[in-house]
Amino acid sequence: MSRRAGIGLLALAACGGEGERSPSQPVIPRPLTAEEGRRALQLSPLPALAPDPTNAFADHPAAARFGQRLFFDERLSRDADRACATCHDPAQAFTDGERIAIGLLPLERHTPTLINAAHQRWQFWDGRVDRLWSQALVPFESPLEHASSRLQILHVVAADAILRAEYEAIFGPLPAMEAGARFPPVGRPVPADDHAHKLAAEHAAKSDGGSGGHAHPEGGHFYHPHQRAWDTLTPEDQAAVTRAFVNLGKAIAAYERRLVAGRSPFDVFVEGMRTGDEDKLAALGDPARRGLQLFLGKANCHFCHGGPLFSDLEFHDLGFDGNDPGRSRGLEALRRFEFLGTSSWSDDPHGEARIQVDFLPTHRHVGSEFKTPSLRNVAVTPPYMHDGRFATLKDVVRTQV
Ligand code: HEC
Ligand code: HEC
Repeated sequence: MSRRAGIGLLALAACGGEGERSPSQPVIPRPLTAEEGRRALQLSPLPALAPDPTNAFADHPAAARFGQRLFFDERLSRDADRACATCHDPAQAFTDGERIAIGLLPLERHTPTLINAAHQRWQFWDGRVDRLWSQALVPFESPLEHASSRLQILHVVAADAILRAEYEAIFGPLPAMEAGARFPPVGRPVPADDHAHKLAAEHAAKSDGGSGGHAHPEGGHFYHPHQRAWDTLTPEDQAAVTRAFVNLGKAIAAYERRLVAGRSPFDVFVEGMRTGDEDKLAALGDPARRGLQLFLGKANCHFCHGGPLFSDLEFHDLGFDGNDPGRSRGLEALRRFEFLGTSSWSDDPHGEARIQVDFLPTHRHVGSEFKTPSLRNVAVTPPYMHDGRFATLKDVVRTQV
């Protein structure tokens, strides 16, 4: 078909007869305008999850089952007292209900839900991680969260008959963790410029104890015991341990990819707009329809909370005062991140992962930008914002409109 003919067809469709609805035209329910109706159609349905080529196990059922075990296993934390599920509690829609998460040391941000996290482009409020599987590796080694290390975690997996068997059935043999001094009980690389690590070091200095640490024998700077132990491994053993650790992240991501929720009353309503089915249109009552009109019209919420996730997947500064630099520090951390989708730990370092991280803004961000959160199921995940400052949705809307 020529370009001209295509345009002609479009023009015809646009001036189709008044009154009667052709099957391809959506119903515009009161009180939405045609433009608001068009915007509503863009919010639903939530499409199937896109594949993640950087994780070869993303949709592997046995990996998802293994990942689920890891998600709930407290033994993977330093003191065997917390799991991912401690903060991301399934009974609370995978959040903790707290304003700010409660970690081993004070955390700075509010715990987001994991429902639909697999649909996000960036992980964390500041987007400092580009892949779901690599996000899972961060809390394990964060001194504020699990405070564990890849060596400690692999010792637990290797010593547990069920975890070991499941791991090896999916990923092949584990490194020989039981081989005496070759693999010390704890150890990991400790990036000197890591923010969580800096906070922990400050805390340890203040309380004169805590996670401990000694002056570096050569440089005189802080030489973390985890780093010291890690430095005793050969480069080959370091690579084997890190590879196995990465596999745990890929299994957890396979589990998290099952935590998707799409069909809400709003989705049913939009189906009604598409099919003309009155019962489906009734899924939203009048107050909700008036709210929707504001959302898509005068209040312009859709500008940032658009698309099927009700998020543009980008970062904005809403002008809240606070000291959290948000995306600007997130970008610095992302550039240094050990497990980028373009790294050698990725199963597809040259594909879309490249596009995602090769075109990051180079200018300095000013202000405090945070990721636009998805508003799907938002009613069940109070409190709100990166710092949990609002207890209810009413409070949010009062300040945003
Ligand atoms: C101490 C509480 C705590 C623990 C334990 C914890 N998390 Fe989180 N999680 C948080 C907080 C707080 C954030 C947001 C931090 C930020 O943005 O800087 C977060 C963010 C996330 C995100 C990003 C979601 C998004 O929308 O950006 C994912 C995914 C996630 N956690 C998964 C996990 C997994 C997997 C584990 C276990 C390996 C885990 N978490 C352990 C508190 C916790
Ligand atoms: C300029 C982009 C933008 C616009 C316009 C916007 N938001 Fe947001 N919204 C955000 C960002 C960014 C956050 C997170 C801010 C933070 O944590 O500091 C957010 C957070 C929220 C949250 C909290 C969700 C959670 O899980 O914590 C709700 C609810 C919300 N917005 C609703 C609305 C509504 C309703 C409107 C229209 C009145 C609106 N937003 C307009 C960008 C926007």
